[in-house]
Amino acid sequence: MANGFDPDSSPDLSPEATDLLRRRSQVLSSSYRLFYSEPVDVVCGQGSHLFDAAGNDYLDVYNNVPGIGHSHPRVTEYVSAQLATLNTHTRYLTEAVVSYSEDLLATFPTALDRITYACSGSEAIDLAVRLARFATGHRGVIVTANAYHGTTELSAGLSPSLGENNPLGPDVVTVEAPDGFRDDPATASAEFAARIRTAAEDLEERGIGLAAVLVDSVLSSDGVQPEPAGFLAEAATVAHEFGGLWIADEVQPGFGRTGTMWGFERHTGTRGDTQPGPELPGLEAPIPDIAVLGKPMGNGMPISAVVTRAELGEEFGRRVRYFNTFGGNPVSIAAARAVLEVVREEDLPGHASTTGAALAQGLSDLAQDFFLLGQVRQAGLFLGVEVVDPEAPRAADPARASAVVNGLRDRRVLISASGPHANVLKIRPPLVFGAADTDRFLTSLADTLASLRA
Ligand SMILES: Cc1ncc(COP(=O)(O)O)c(C=O)c1O
Repeated sequence: MANGFDPDSSPDLSPEATDLLRRRSQVLSSSYRLFYSEPVDVVCGQGSHLFDAAGNDYLDVYNNVPGIGHSHPRVTEYVSAQLATLNTHTRYLTEAVVSYSEDLLATFPTALDRITYACSGSEAIDLAVRLARFATGHRGVIVTANAYHGTTELSAGLSPSLGENNPLGPDVVTVEAPDGFRDDPATASAEFAARIRTAAEDLEERGIGLAAVLVDSVLSSDGVQPEPAGFLAEAATVAHEFGGLWIADEVQPGFGRTGTMWGFERHTGTRGDTQPGPELPGLEAPIPDIAVLGKPMGNGMPISAVVTRAELGEEFGRRVRYFNTFGGNPVSIAAARAVLEVVREEDLPGHASTTGAALAQGLSDLAQDFFLLGQVRQAGLFLGVEVVDPEAPRAADPARASAVVNGLRDRRVLISASGPHANVLKIRPPLVFGAADTDRFLTSLADTLASLRA
């Protein structure tokens, strides 16, 4: 990532972009980071492509917020029409927020039957944890060791990936996430559940008690860890034993990304209520007590939500109340309505499954030739690829991962790297990513890998 202005590290930028970089560094706070050794200046987007001022086309293999594609015409149409008509809040009777809520809740198991809107994932995480604490009377929250859950005081305090200068909350305990590359798949699930148990016991002994186990259902910042399917349900069973709740952070995996509408479905083995999922036929698994939605929900319009059971949120709603000025406003709901329609009409979860499988196959083929590619992990269109030292195939190699990311950027293909060792290629394009996009990505990656070997 390029932080601030360094013209020497970006010698190929146009004079206009160089000037923009300079001005940017003079007004934006030092928190802001740019991706890549050479920043990308984009002026428009379409589908899974971004374009710079010179009209160059970048393949977007990274952005999950525009899930149905950049600048989707239906979002533009619905949002423009709504903005020209009415934009208020949830304290008046309006049709759109009710009918959207009915449709969205129908995609969840029926027990999850109430929704509260906010504007960002962080706000929704914050509310989910407040709800869990209120409902259980406990304070403790268990998160994974490299989790990211947001920017507010509470959600940053649940985000160890922000590093040592970001203090975790006093009632927060971390556990190592499953590691698909290094764990024994036969025991990984039970071992994760055992770590949850130890952490819950610790919270109990300290008199804090367990309010919730909060996990991103695809463990994005822990390096994309979808396997073994079911480990979150096993962990949730332990949480319930201790009187705690399972909060599924669906901000990254939600809305079809992982091949099902919700990422937790991979772990509960259910699709909605009745259709058994493919992963765990017949498993009597718990469902999340609370699900938190965000990012792709409005395809770029700020909208997020907390979904839970009526009885769980009842007392909080009556005794604490929650009003979010912009949360669930008609314009954001119009964007969310467009997203939900397109996800359904184009069966984007199904498309994510097939396209993701093709990408995973192509990546596995490349790993046969290029030994710096280690394990390929995939759930729908969320893929993580370990970059390792070819001489020590289990050793994470963040420097080579960064070289791959920047080499692809030089070929106008955009990905990133994540994970506790920053060595996992994060491949997470808009869900409309097509077959030609897949070919271009794999060809560019092969070219990049060959140039790094040369
Ligand atoms: C898993 C997860 N949860 C929560 C958040 C916070 O969402 P927001 O940036 O919309 O506040 C993020 C953002 O990256 C996230 O990845």
